[in-house]
Formats: sequence, structure tokens, C-alpha cells
Amino acid sequence: MEEILRYLDVTHSGKRRVATEDIVVNGQMIQAGDPVVVLSVSANRDSSKFEDPNVFDLRRDSRTQVSFGYGPHQCIGQPLARLEMQIMFTALLERFPNLELAVPVESLEFKGDSLMYGVKELPVRW
Ligand code: HEM
Repeated sequence: MEEILRYLDVTHSGKRRVATEDIVVNGQMIQAGDPVVVLSVSANRDSSKFEDPNVFDLRRDSRTQVSFGYGPHQCIGQPLARLEMQIMFTALLERFPNLELAVPVESLEFKGDSLMYGVKELPVRW
């Protein structure tokens, strides 16, 4: 689940913040009052945190992913979201053990223009 959350990071809008105090991040001065847009998509592909970050690897430890945000305003619904994913994937794979894509993976269209990332359609067969 953590790797799915890291790799896909479905909320593609930057998290908007205003700096409350001066801070230097990676040599860049951010002054109090500056607007900041934080891209968790980039943080989740940070090669200093995740080896080969553009590779989807279910065996890696992805628990430091930030797809639910970070700090006091991080997603309040994340325990529920994790539970739903756990129940859904388990039930789906138990009920449909032969579930597979019904079209070539290259033909899938992704929503690049939407707040929530995902596929436009996902034809499957079992
Ligand atoms: C996979 C599913 C979900 C993802 C990826 C997700 C992601 C996020 C993200 C990125 C934020 C903004 C965090 C920030 O600004 O730092 C957020 C905030 C929030 N989410 Fe979710 N969320 C999910 C499911 C849910 C669910 C199921 C609920 C409620 C039942 C929920 C309720 C909220 C609320 C209330 C906030 C605002 C928290 C605040 O501003 O203090 N989310 N979520």
C-alpha cells in the first residue's frame, strides 16, 4: 500500500503554504510570508530517500512517503484510506484471482489534467 501511495501520489495539486519564519532549505532562503507550493510528487521521487525512485517496487520500504501530506494538516482520513485499500485489494484478489487487464497497458489513458490522478478507464477481465 505504501509503495502504491508513493508511486502514484494521486493528489497532483501542490500543497500551498505560507512560511511563518525565515528558513533555508537546500541553500534556498525562504522568508517569512513567502508563499510556498510543496510538491509531494517530487518528494516521493527523491532519489536521496528512495533508490531508483521511478521504479515501482512492492518490496521496498516506502513508509516515509508523503502522499497524505506532512505536518499538522496532513490527511486526517489516512487511517481510513489505508484500511479501505487493505480491504479492497485483499477482497478483489481473493474474489477475482485471475483478474487481468483486458487491453494492452500502453493503451491506458491517464488523467494528467485532473486534481486526482488516475486512469480514465480500466477495462479488465477474469
Ligand atoms: C488515498 C486516499 C487519500 C489521499 C491520497 C488523501 C490525500 C490528502 C492530502 C494530500 C491532503 C492535504 C495534506 C496537506 O495539505 O498537507 C489531505 C487532507 C485531508 N484529507 Fe485526505 N486523502 C485521502 C483520503 C481521505 C479520506 C478517506 C478522508 C476522510 C474520510 C480524508 C480527509 C481529509 C481531510 C479532512 C483533510 C484536511 C486536513 C487538514 O487540512 O487539516 N482524506 N488528504
